[in-house]
Amino acid sequence: MLVRSIEPSDEESYRAILESTTAEDRYCRFFHRVDHFDPAEVHRFVETNPDIAGMIAFEGPVPLGAAHAVRLDAESAELAIVVARNARHLGVGVALLEALIACLKERGFHRLLACALRENHAFEHLAKRAGFHVEQADGATFRWVLALTADESAAGR
Ligand SMILES: CC(C)(COP(=O)(O)OP(=O)(O)OC[C@H]1O[C@@H](n2cnc3c(N)ncnc32)[C@H](O)[C@@H]1OP(=O)(O)O)[C@@H](O)C(=O)NCCC(=O)NCCS
Repeated sequence: MLVRSIEPSDEESYRAILESTTAEDRYCRFFHRVDHFDPAEVHRFVETNPDIAGMIAFEGPVPLGAAHAVRLDAESAELAIVVARNARHLGVGVALLEALIACLKERGFHRLLACALRENHAFEHLAKRAGFHVEQADGATFRWVLALTADESAAGR
């Protein structure tokens, strides 16, 4: 498996990953019903943007999944991750998250946040494995947080 930074030339691959998902997956990822993908939104997540870090995974020419972190403020970013339906449970999520976390540390981010439905057990496993903890439980969602620096860890954030 190859995991690398996402590039503008990955637009079709990223779209193919999104299109492999079910309506339920998309609800988990976007928190609302998504029936089609806005080309401008797909483009936004592959273009070079100082406020978005993105990783994509391939097996040969086949795109497997993508993970993004969108800047929230000077120190924090929010995670969005999606693995193609037929590539689940193979460690793609773990590989994408590890690469993204390394990139965020290099860029000097302190915290990575993620919102996910409480019932999203796939993400729960992935998040706990990476060291996230639940910072806040709000209705049907959990707000997960991962400290990216020793200071944040010591502060228990
Ligand atoms: C969450 C998601 C990214 C996980 O991707 P994945 O490539 O299948 O995950 P991995 O294969 O790397 O597995 C990571 C861990 O989660 C576990 N896991 C994966 N899917 C699981 C499931 N449905 N139920 C329970 N555990 C699960 C794996 O066993 C593994 O645990 P382990 O290391 O202890 O064995 C994927 O299910 C997905 O794209 N879901 C839809 C989008 C979404 O919900 N995104 C999160 C909100 S942004």
